[in-house]
Amino acid sequence: MKITLSKNLKQKPDVNKLGFGKYFTDHMLVMEYSDGKWSEPEIKPYEDFSLNPASVVLHYGQGIFEGCKAYKNAEGKITMFRPEDNIKRMNRSAARLCMAELPVKETLEAVFELIRIEKDWIPTAPGTSLYVRPTMVGTEAFLGVHPSKKYIFFVILSPVGSYYANGLAPTRIYVEDVYNRAAIGGTGEAKCLGNYAASLLAAEVANKKGYEQVLWMDAAERKYVEEVGSMNIFFVIDGKVVTPELDGSILPGITRDSAIKVLREFGYTVEERKVSIDELLKAYAEGKLNEAFGTGTAAVISPVGIIGYKDKVMEINNNKMGRITEWLYDRLTGIQTERYPNSYNWVVEIAKA
Ligand code: COI
Repeated sequence: MKITLSKNLKQKPDVNKLGFGKYFTDHMLVMEYSDGKWSEPEIKPYEDFSLNPASVVLHYGQGIFEGCKAYKNAEGKITMFRPEDNIKRMNRSAARLCMAELPVKETLEAVFELIRIEKDWIPTAPGTSLYVRPTMVGTEAFLGVHPSKKYIFFVILSPVGSYYANGLAPTRIYVEDVYNRAAIGGTGEAKCLGNYAASLLAAEVANKKGYEQVLWMDAAERKYVEEVGSMNIFFVIDGKVVTPELDGSILPGITRDSAIKVLREFGYTVEERKVSIDELLKAYAEGKLNEAFGTGTAAVISPVGIIGYKDKVMEINNNKMGRITEWLYDRLTGIQTERYPNSYNWVVEIAKA
């Protein structure tokens, strides 16, 4: 691995004002793919890229990304949560977009080395972490629509607090009934750039109505809810935890999977199945829609306080974080930061205290 350290280290941000994705560390990791193989990983100062204006990603959006987190405990031990699952998911996204797949072990080792170099950037206050953003884009200069023969894979790091400006306050989501995010057979289950670009307009419209995010429905019938802009969605209906099943158009969230496993381990019933908007409206009318929350690397476990659908507004649990949501937030963040043990080897140590 080639390592060039920066001579101009940046000033670190105020840990109380981190927000999400605003600050970037001093170094980044880069690997380039051409002639059918990946270059040796290179860690170098964080800097602008130069891209050929004909690069495939700039014209046809051939690009994918991931999000995972590193944590540092009070003694200085550094860990990551399920990083291998992120690289494996990135390879599934790459396969869907006809992109080069990454060597999992070598890529992870390079990511760990980058984080070790940037260890002073990992915040330790509760609710903070170092967000890791692996990204891959097609860089071949060619205007024909075909898979790029060249890629750049890079990893940047950002110290973060909570994704939502209001921290753990319940969010307001609007059930989208005009635009679609993904259809069966489309790219919904891949973490590709275009899925997020396609979501922006609906989110803008929802923002104007006073909502923070959109809850997408299935594109075929607009009957079943699927996922929120930056997180998977869960409901507690009549005491049971229910989440939309992975049907090919929903992102298979790693936090979603962790939440399901941890809830089941502790005796909660979790159903993965279709959840229709009619079922939610009926459960709400009968007082059985007890809680709603989102899961995601960035969003962690985020309570949902208001769900809007057409002219109806459902206020969940008096717009307060529910009991199961709070339990799950504590348990999962506790596992991530090793306050609680975990049964699945999800926490990977990348540097000793
Ligand atoms: C993540 O949770 O890491 C994501 O990638 C969602 C993002 C669009 C902020």
